[in-house]
Amino acid sequence: SKLNPTIFVIFGGTGDLNKRKLAPALYNLYTEGYMPSKFAIIGTGRTAFTDEKYQKELLHSVNEFSRNGKVKKDKWDVFSQSIHYCTIDIKSQQTFENLKGEIEKYQADFGENTQVIFYLAVAPNLFPLIAQCLHQYKLTGNEENCRIVIEKPFGHDLESAKELNLLLSGIFTEKQIYRIDHYLGKETVQNMMAFRFANSLFEPLWNRTYIEHIQISVTEQLGVGDRGGYYEGAGALRDMIQNHLLQLLCLVGMEAPISFNADEIRDRKVEVLRAVRPFKPEEISSHAVRGQYSKGWVEGKEVPGYRSENGVDAHSNTETFAAVKFFIDNWRWQGIPFYLRTGKRMNQTSSIITIQFKDVPHHIFSNNVAETWQQNRLIISIQPEASIRLQVQSKRPGLDMVLNPVDMVFNYKGTYENDSPEAYETLLLDAILGDQTLFMRGDQVEAAWELVMPIIHTWENKKSLSFPNYAADSWGPEEAEALIARDGYHWFTLPIKD
Ligand code: BG6
Repeated sequence: SKLNPTIFVIFGGTGDLNKRKLAPALYNLYTEGYMPSKFAIIGTGRTAFTDEKYQKELLHSVNEFSRNGKVKKDKWDVFSQSIHYCTIDIKSQQTFENLKGEIEKYQADFGENTQVIFYLAVAPNLFPLIAQCLHQYKLTGNEENCRIVIEKPFGHDLESAKELNLLLSGIFTEKQIYRIDHYLGKETVQNMMAFRFANSLFEPLWNRTYIEHIQISVTEQLGVGDRGGYYEGAGALRDMIQNHLLQLLCLVGMEAPISFNADEIRDRKVEVLRAVRPFKPEEISSHAVRGQYSKGWVEGKEVPGYRSENGVDAHSNTETFAAVKFFIDNWRWQGIPFYLRTGKRMNQTSSIITIQFKDVPHHIFSNNVAETWQQNRLIISIQPEASIRLQVQSKRPGLDMVLNPVDMVFNYKGTYENDSPEAYETLLLDAILGDQTLFMRGDQVEAAWELVMPIIHTWENKKSLSFPNYAADSWGPEEAEALIARDGYHWFTLPIKD
């Protein structure tokens, strides 16, 4: 492999993210031939482990969480020789000296061009501390040979995000900073750019003249599970809308880039965020809706309401559902509503983007001919089904003239033989390659925070009187239906197929 020798240092090496996502992703990259021929993975954490014990731990995780199932023993045996462990205590100089010694040992061994990637898979309060330690112990290298990957959440609000950006930019250049939004690594999300900018068919229609409104809906069946402690201080707006959903909005809304260059694309995306109309305080209640789930039944099992979940206040005011109506003030999108919604414990796990086109200018078919009239829709399904559907009207076969909507479907299943890689495989490979296209630039993160802050402030200052206001296994609170129904539309879903 032509890739530069790489040393991964994973802070949070014994944590959940490494077990579920990073270790399986690195192993899969290795088996598929995408790892540099020389690499080392140094997991770090407070608990003491020998290399052997740590390798066993990771074997266990990869077996459990890899999309490819259990590891192949011969492959694992070679791969695991590159896994090491280093005990780190942020407050102990000695442990950082040890880590530095390890890194230098590999650098000497791997030769020049060796790059170091620090991955911060830790709680956000540790981001600044670790970055400062890397600086203090002179581990930050230069633009070519050192990168830092930062997990979400990037800040808790605009102010803390700015602080974190400021601190990081005092230690690293922007070219070294890789802020993760794992949605950008999803295969179907990446395909949005190919779909829009590698086809001539859609772009001419992709504007206010032909499009009526757009929906971005990311719903999950799961509740907060064992993440109550984190979620209670976050809520749906911070956890999903500020990052994942606004990034999807950027991909749908952006102007055509002039090249597939990281900064070019990120410039076009941040322009969308800057064009989103900011809310006046009095507009919040008619443009943003929140919800919190109560107990209910999911597939024959009783599930607790949010306020009874572990780590959650019995009178919690945290939203587990949010819906927001945005407008983008530019020539392309003026007046076209973008409806975003996301929630936990909803009726379906489904991430879809629906583009509804305007109606035909003149109806020649009478009502009884057009049995179910439907305007054209383009549905981009991100997960679980990976597909793009164009819904059009068609004449039903038969001697009567009857119309009904049909789907022209491009389904990944059946079109492509190979499985999609996990988002983390794509993103880790990009970090190795030094490609920042799918990572968040500092100004993007801040622009996204700026948009949601007025809603966050309003909600924090005003407790919801009606929480909880939607039942587990439902489609969210009534108010979310009303939000979109006031404009004459309804939320679209894809029928689930077993
Ligand atoms: C994370 C959120 O960023 O994304 C979680 O913190 C959420 O609350 C998850 O469940 C959803 O990701 P995915 O890939 O399962 O859609």
